[in-house]
Amino acid sequence: MTKKLLPKEEALAKRFEANQLFTPSAPIAVAEMFAGRQAQAGKIVDAIGERGRHIILFGERGVGKSSMAQIIRFFIPATPRQVRHIRVQAFPNDTFSTLAKRIFSEIHFDADYGEGKRGYTVSEFYPNEVTIDNFLAEMRQFGESEIPLIIVDEFNELSDPDASIAFSNVIKALSDTGNHVTMFLVGVADNVTDLMERHESIARCTEQILMPRMSVPERREVLEKRLSQLNMTIDTDGKWKIINLSKGLPAYVHALGKFAAFSALSEGRLHIFEQDVDRAIDDVISASQQTLKDDYETAVRSNNSRALFRQILAACALAKVDDAGFFVPAAVREPLASILRRKVEIANFQDTLKAFAESRGQILDRAGTERIYRFRFANPAMQPYVIMRGIGEGIIDEAARQALSSPEQPDLFAVTPLPRA
Ligand SMILES: Nc1ncnc2c1ncn2[C@@H]1O[C@H](COP(=O)(O)OP(=O)(O)OP(=O)(O)O)[C@@H](O)[C@H]1O
Ligand SMILES: [Mg+2]
Repeated sequence: MTKKLLPKEEALAKRFEANQLFTPSAPIAVAEMFAGRQAQAGKIVDAIGERGRHIILFGERGVGKSSMAQIIRFFIPATPRQVRHIRVQAFPNDTFSTLAKRIFSEIHFDADYGEGKRGYTVSEFYPNEVTIDNFLAEMRQFGESEIPLIIVDEFNELSDPDASIAFSNVIKALSDTGNHVTMFLVGVADNVTDLMERHESIARCTEQILMPRMSVPERREVLEKRLSQLNMTIDTDGKWKIINLSKGLPAYVHALGKFAAFSALSEGRLHIFEQDVDRAIDDVISASQQTLKDDYETAVRSNNSRALFRQILAACALAKVDDAGFFVPAAVREPLASILRRKVEIANFQDTLKAFAESRGQILDRAGTERIYRFRFANPAMQPYVIMRGIGEGIIDEAARQALSSPEQPDLFAVTPLPRA
């Protein structure tokens, strides 16, 4: 049976819709399109509900922190009280005063100061420096009928330690005085120590939440929500390929999903075949940021045609990782053996791992000490990119590609214990 093909007009309309639903470059702004994250949202809502409690949300780049900060207001159960969702972003040159003023510029209110009622922002009342006392005084102006939520995203960008300390002090003071404002700080970091100065002083009054990479069911929900909205379907193998390739970074689910949908629609189909996903891989590679392409080339560049930088990097991207995204050299051995179709020892590639961490654009981060080094991609988005390049360049073999489209083997290669000498 051959399915009827979509007329061109309809396919174009669907393409337009797909482009709006799959958003690889922007945080989620519509609650219906937000997938998973129930556990984190639950903790955040509890903290907002509890007077004197504040939130620090941290995690790797691109896992969905800003989306959570945008959407959280829709998770707050309806009450007669109104959520005041105030969201700003921190920049490297910010001081406490400039950041406080940015927050003030988002606090709107109506008043009549003798010239008739009109709208104001709090920042209009602060032409000069804003002090901590000014800030605390303004935080007392919110009514009890409001649920004020003040979000500072990209908090890791703040380079001024005094600004970070000032925010710790603000949180402490808001908590000690029983103010009902909730401060919600968001930033890229492995742990709170890296994100904030003096965080110990506010440990008791803050909910410190790690945003992990997306689980397999969450990635699947990202994809399925959008496809069902488009009335589109996908081959099981194609679906798993998208889910497994993304390595828990939702932007790749969006990007692969979008280009796979485009590919099917370009042929008038509402069903996505695995081949559409394969085409999407090429499209994602060419649509990737130039920095990703440049960093990849810097890492693998060589005048020696027999150099194995590409192969070893591909094996790193396929290696099994721990919760923090680190892999041990032993985990590289098996994917590398599969890529090279011969037995390899750690000694064959450990100098290359070292080079990836110390030079070659430092594409890998290294942790631990000499005998127990662990590595991970400095930029999380590089890992799926390297796998896709490996597929595109024919480095990653058929067995690994097959494994990508199976639900049972999301890690592709297990770490095998070292043989005893
Ligand atoms: N819960 C979700 N459901 C669907 N898509 C999501 C979800 N969370 C994030 N995304 C998508 O993932 C990508 C990254 O999201 P977001 O910008 O929120 O991450 P981030 O952690 O703030 O990133 P960065 O560290 O770069 O600031 C975006 O494409 C966004 O649309
Ligand atoms: Mg963000």
